[in-house]
Amino acid sequence: MYKNRVVTHLSTKTLQKSLGYRHFEINSRLCYFKPASSKSEKTFAKEISYSLNQKEKSISPKFFYDIKGSAIFDEICELPEYYLTRTETELLKKIGNDLIQFISKDIRLVELGSGSAVKTRLLLDVLTSIQNKIEYFPIDISDILQESSQKLLEDYENLSITGIIDSYEGGLEFVEQYDDKPNLIAFLGSSFGNFTPELGFAFLHKISSIMKKNDLFFLGLDLVKDKKVLEKAYDDPKGITANFNLNVLSRINDELSADFDLSQFVHHAIYNEKKQRIEMYLRSLEKQTVEIKKADLLLDIEKDELIHTEHSHKYSIPQIENILRRAGFRLEKIWQDTNKPYALFLASKH
Ligand code: AVI
Repeated sequence: MYKNRVVTHLSTKTLQKSLGYRHFEINSRLCYFKPASSKSEKTFAKEISYSLNQKEKSISPKFFYDIKGSAIFDEICELPEYYLTRTETELLKKIGNDLIQFISKDIRLVELGSGSAVKTRLLLDVLTSIQNKIEYFPIDISDILQESSQKLLEDYENLSITGIIDSYEGGLEFVEQYDDKPNLIAFLGSSFGNFTPELGFAFLHKISSIMKKNDLFFLGLDLVKDKKVLEKAYDDPKGITANFNLNVLSRINDELSADFDLSQFVHHAIYNEKKQRIEMYLRSLEKQTVEIKKADLLLDIEKDELIHTEHSHKYSIPQIENILRRAGFRLEKIWQDTNKPYALFLASKH
């Protein structure tokens, strides 16, 4: 679908006009691009209206990450039960020298779902060890990008940042149109697990299609493991993951003028061994009706009805090797933690 596209690189003005972005120049080292706000609000209302109107109600996990949701997610990453962030960080610390051997001296870091950009620092350290000036293009749906970028600039004098506050797809198209510089496209934190396998495959295919020969793709993924370990990671005793899940209802209340009563829903997370995925839901404690004004929706919800909010798929290494190859990548290297099975995959365009 994306093969053999002729890409003409666009000026900032054209990027704004043709892709519908607003350009914010904060200072000489920081700027960011953001879709016109009307576009994102319309998408949110439209998607929510569609997904909650289905027989099996759902809310896309991409809507978790408003400022508050992103902050709660950072709390999750600190939890002893949520081993993913710690394990990935430890791996990244170990492989720095190894990674240098694969990357070119003029490569820029593009990060999908950069969030608070903590692990980014480990990759920026790797780039700093071989480049005088480093460039970073974070792509994140949340406005948190602005805050995390400021912090990075304070700590890295040689860094310039172009942030793209948009969906992954929007951000990737932006990067594709931008210029010819090689990109190291990082997709860390096992966010790939939040796609269904079909959409995940299509997404990987999209990434490989926009990649140039000298680009690299760097993927961090949680692997299959014991059910008990997984369920604890997604249903912690402090209830932080529950807050994270419920926060999406507050967001809908605030942004789409809805009247969800959060005390009438509870967090529910189970590991489906057959489908190799954590399934996260909000369960309604009562039969209730909720109004979402900006989505033009009056929603009837049964007692014990589940609203699906997230899948977190867990893969085996051979499964990922296979998916990457089929999606148009050549695998360069795999690094893994065998204690809490987790892996980092480095791939180029096939
Ligand atoms: C962002 N994503 C990879 C997290 C995960 O593990 O699926 C989101 C999350 N949901 C509950 N806890 C963390």
